[in-house]
Amino acid sequence: VFNKVSTLKDFVNNCRFSKKSVGFVPTMGALHHGHITLIKKSIQENDITICSIFVNPTQFNNAIDLKHYPVQHEQDKKMLEEAGCSALFLPSVEEMYPMGIEQSQITGFNFGIIEKQLEGAFRPGHFNGVGIVVSKLFHMVNPDKAYFGLKDLQQFLIIRKMTSDLSFGIDVIGVPTVRENDGLAMSSRNLRLTEDERKVAPFIYEVISTMKEKIDHNQAPKEVLDWGIAKFQNNTKFHLEYLEIVDTTTLTKVEDYKKPLSYAIVIAAHLGKVRLIDNLLIE
Ligand code: PAJ
Repeated sequence: VFNKVSTLKDFVNNCRFSKKSVGFVPTMGALHHGHITLIKKSIQENDITICSIFVNPTQFNNAIDLKHYPVQHEQDKKMLEEAGCSALFLPSVEEMYPMGIEQSQITGFNFGIIEKQLEGAFRPGHFNGVGIVVSKLFHMVNPDKAYFGLKDLQQFLIIRKMTSDLSFGIDVIGVPTVRENDGLAMSSRNLRLTEDERKVAPFIYEVISTMKEKIDHNQAPKEVLDWGIAKFQNNTKFHLEYLEIVDTTTLTKVEDYKKPLSYAIVIAAHLGKVRLIDNLLIE
């Protein structure tokens, strides 16, 4: 376990010296089987796998969400060890942002249209914070490959674009969403659901799966969307933030299926105090 950038770099330099390939899985901790699936994929494809756990303050636009973000380092370490992860980078906020958080956000990103949609529209500054921390981590870890979950589709697309536009020379790999048996996408935030909320949470996956079936049967996007939105209007437990059918290059709304694109159904909804996101890709 490395808490300092300097010792992490020594470790990585040694790996490089011995010609070992390095895979990297950045996380914010409270690890679950979804994270471990990323770790296992990295272990399969690289000699060394490094995981980072850092609850990055610059990507939270909601102070309460940051304050309540679950922290369980001992359990996380155990899970990483059992999975066979080689090393954990566990820095403090001061280690990551020695100049302070305000000073560290002066240099920023413009991801264009893709960051203005969906999560970007509802969480101003979020992707700038993600871009900053992932760039810093990429420079610190200097991996060959980095693994991201398709559960956070917009994050994956933005990071893949950033990595290519800025010539990081890192292979960014997307890993399909890992779900509970009842379909709920695994998320650290699920820990904050009450027992009753947890029971109804799979409704999100049920609705988007049915929407996917309708799209597979060529039903028009507007019809499918109206059907999905009505489902949420009739379920008062959820507060729908967005539900859209988008193309996966710009994440803008799809009006028809004429163009040879790949699409996604994307959703964000509040259940009690917890904000849940999910998506389904449609090739
Ligand atoms: P975090 O939410 O901890 O997620 C870490 C990685 O695990 C992300 O790539 C995310 O997409 C992936 N992941 C989470 N749940 C998943 C699931 N059910 N199936 C597959 N993959 C899943 O995303 C972040 O942290 C942060 O924004 C970070 C990239 C670390 C930057 O701070």
